[in-house]
Amino acid sequence: MIRSTVRGVGAALPRRIMTNKDFEKLLETSDEWIAQRTGIRQRHIASDDETTASLGEAAARRALDAAGLTPADIDLIVVATSTPNNTFPATAVEIQERLGMRQGFAFDMQAVCSGFVYAITSADLHIRGGLAKRALVIGSETFSRILDWTDRTTCVLFGDGAGAVVLEAREGQGTMSDRGILAEALRSDGSHKDKLYVDGGPSTTQTVGHLRMQGREVFKHAVGMITDVIEDVFGQAGITAEDIDWFVPHQANKRIIDASAKKLGIAEEKVVITVDMHGNTSAASVPLALNQAVSEGKIKEGDLVLLEAMGGGFTWGAVLLRW
Ligand code: UT7
Repeated sequence: MIRSTVRGVGAALPRRIMTNKDFEKLLETSDEWIAQRTGIRQRHIASDDETTASLGEAAARRALDAAGLTPADIDLIVVATSTPNNTFPATAVEIQERLGMRQGFAFDMQAVCSGFVYAITSADLHIRGGLAKRALVIGSETFSRILDWTDRTTCVLFGDGAGAVVLEAREGQGTMSDRGILAEALRSDGSHKDKLYVDGGPSTTQTVGHLRMQGREVFKHAVGMITDVIEDVFGQAGITAEDIDWFVPHQANKRIIDASAKKLGIAEEKVVITVDMHGNTSAASVPLALNQAVSEGKIKEGDLVLLEAMGGGFTWGAVLLRW
């Protein structure tokens, strides 16, 4: 059977770094509060010349280099983003154009912080369905552009950046020792849509709007939803937490990550943490963390890797793959 296998990973971060201390000059907040409640110490903030498309393109080029491929080898681009360059066309076609690609097809995926998990699942289904052989799956965000910089309960939490993987169709045996994506679970529940949203849009206010969040409400649901989809993929694969080599969670809050890992019985040393360096980069957080873990020599060929995310909607999901 066909398995969608990761052949390369890459990332791109804006040049400018903003520390917690920098916020102390702007708002009634402190490095201690932010670090203790979230684990965040700094985040990257895009300058005017850095956009979701330019960061996504840079991450994609690095993933292609890591894979030893060129844009000519790609026939699908899926971009997970909630901060597209324009309402339309999709940022994915803009990246396609920037990469000089005239072949294949490209589209955006909008599932907020779960975007990358939704996008890699979608790319996997396109590959296994025979519509594509090699896909670029990109998570790219410039959340700094939709933050209310006077609201200390949200603006300290988010950052900008992009990560990308190249997925390739390879023949597998249909067993759990195959390389590639082995199991996936996606969920959403729109009854929670008002807990994390943007208060603008083309069809309502004709403005872009700003991010609004009831942080405590999101926190309350996060661990249960995350562990629910992970138990689902464990069940599909017939494995337990002990079989996992690396846990690469969405990086929103270190307390949520720690509580989820503890509830599932995943050892602390298997958890990849980047929230301290990047803040919450929404759909970019999982591929940014993947890139970090690979470049530090942690994730290696053959390792069993568990991805998860949860965010606005609510949306949530998990993907199990062998690197
Ligand atoms: O990726 C999408 C998913 N999003 C998330 O996963 C976010 C989930 N939520 C969270 O991570 C946490 O709820 C927050 C980090 C947003 C907040 O942490 P918390 O422990 O839930 O704090 P809280 O909202 O209960 O606020 C505690 C206090 C409040 O003051 P009072 O009402 O107790 O007097 C806040 O006004 O902390 C205050 N506060 C701040 N103080 C200093 C809120 N933001 C700040 C701040 N600096 N930046």
